[in-house]
Amino acid sequence: MDPTAQVSPLHEMAPEAPFHSKGSVYIESYGCQMNFSDSEIVASVMQEQGFHISQEASQADIVFLNTCAIRDNAEQRVRARLRELKSLKKSKPNLVVGMLGCMAERLREQLLDQEKLVDVVAGPDAYRDLPRLVDQALDGHRGMNVLLSLEETYADVSPVRLTGNGVSAFITIMRGCDNMCTFCVVPFTRGRERSRNPDTILEECRQLWDQGYKEVTLLGQNVDSYLWFGGGPKKEFHRLTAEEKAQALDFAGLLKKVAEAFPGLRIRFTTSHPRDFTDNVLKTMALYPNICPYIHLPVQSGSTRILQRMNRGYSREWYLERIQAIRKYLPHAAISTDIIAGFCSETEEDHQLTLSLMEEVAFDSAYMFKYSERPGTPAAKKFEDDVPEEVKNRRLQEIIDLQRRLSLQSHQRDVGHTFQVLVEGPSRRSPDQFCGRTPQNKMVVFPWKAGIKAGQVLSVRIVDCTSATLMGAFI
Ligand code: SAH
Ligand code: SF4
Ligand code: F3S
Repeated sequence: MDPTAQVSPLHEMAPEAPFHSKGSVYIESYGCQMNFSDSEIVASVMQEQGFHISQEASQADIVFLNTCAIRDNAEQRVRARLRELKSLKKSKPNLVVGMLGCMAERLREQLLDQEKLVDVVAGPDAYRDLPRLVDQALDGHRGMNVLLSLEETYADVSPVRLTGNGVSAFITIMRGCDNMCTFCVVPFTRGRERSRNPDTILEECRQLWDQGYKEVTLLGQNVDSYLWFGGGPKKEFHRLTAEEKAQALDFAGLLKKVAEAFPGLRIRFTTSHPRDFTDNVLKTMALYPNICPYIHLPVQSGSTRILQRMNRGYSREWYLERIQAIRKYLPHAAISTDIIAGFCSETEEDHQLTLSLMEEVAFDSAYMFKYSERPGTPAAKKFEDDVPEEVKNRRLQEIIDLQRRLSLQSHQRDVGHTFQVLVEGPSRRSPDQFCGRTPQNKMVVFPWKAGIKAGQVLSVRIVDCTSATLMGAFI
């Protein structure tokens, strides 16, 4: 998942405010794609209850910040934004400010105490309750709901597509996480893992297809443990009854269903977990050309000792074996990863193992982070955050420098080859150019040509590259 915190202006908006509008809501999202996807659920819930969606914080009656708690800097960014909103509230005393998402879940009452500005606090499983909480706040009473659920998947909520290009959309297929990686706050902010009814996933694909979308990304913190056996909280496969087993649908099965039902739709998914990533998923990917050959497989560290401390459930050798399996079934697949520099007790030798693993795999791209201790996580309780800041910085920089070289080499291998590029729209940097993605999820920029429209799939030949972008031309 792309965990870079960012502000998302809302591009594609609801129609005119209904006559009976109870007020306008502006939603700003931070964190991973899961949060951006949740904001679309929030928009839908609010619209259903007579609120309308606004594009401008300054014009809204209600401002929601959908927040991320994954690293300290993600939280700092939200606090800075809250300070900005303070001045808006001075000129608009009735403005309702809501804090949603992972930071809301993590801080709970503390938020209402510390941040006098916040009127509503709602965790990721409480979004159906938002209209009530907002009504309560409009009456002058601050409201909070941070209950986590074993069942909530918002399966019946039709998301209002907020950001994006009308070409590619996200579909949440599961929520929560049961993994307990020691560094990670997500199991605490998003609760237990639960899978969504596949019929509602297929229905959401159908709606998107009817609206002209050409690509979907199936989202979950660990999509490989998707398991549907007729509802309720997930159980381990071996605990299912014989009847449940016969009906159970795992991730490979779900992929197959979506790929078969929508042969014209490009299908992506994220995030895969190295421990649970099966050959069955790879075989399914190899079988259906509309499942994109791109796998995001976060490794976190190249050292088995550190992986154990992280409770990741695999070793360096296991990870490399999974990479070999990918190369065997999908020789043209692109692979990306997440890496954490400077986890508790990481030595120079552990760090070198991360660098050598990166070289060995030759990742096409990577998201790279400095370890940030999160209060309440197993690592915060059990281990000392003992790698000095300057050492973390230096190791992270070495990782980034190496990845820049690997990304450039990956792009150089594509030069001279032709790819089927799904056009996303005009390039942000130069308006006389268009951009789109290869099946391997690499961004290609190419010259404008009469008749090109977002959503088309074009044959583009790669003629040049940088470490960040491929440059294309038409044959
Ligand atoms: N479910 C996904 C990850 C979600 S969080 C998975 O298991 O891969 C996205 C990434 O943020 C993680 O892969 C990890 O690299 C990073 N991350 C999580 N907690 C972190 C922390 N405390 N400090 C630094 N990076 C962290
Ligand atoms: Fe966090 Fe691990 Fe779950 Fe990913 S799999 S969300 S890193 S606990
Ligand atoms: Fe995502 Fe951040 Fe929550 S990465 S799951 S929004 S803590």
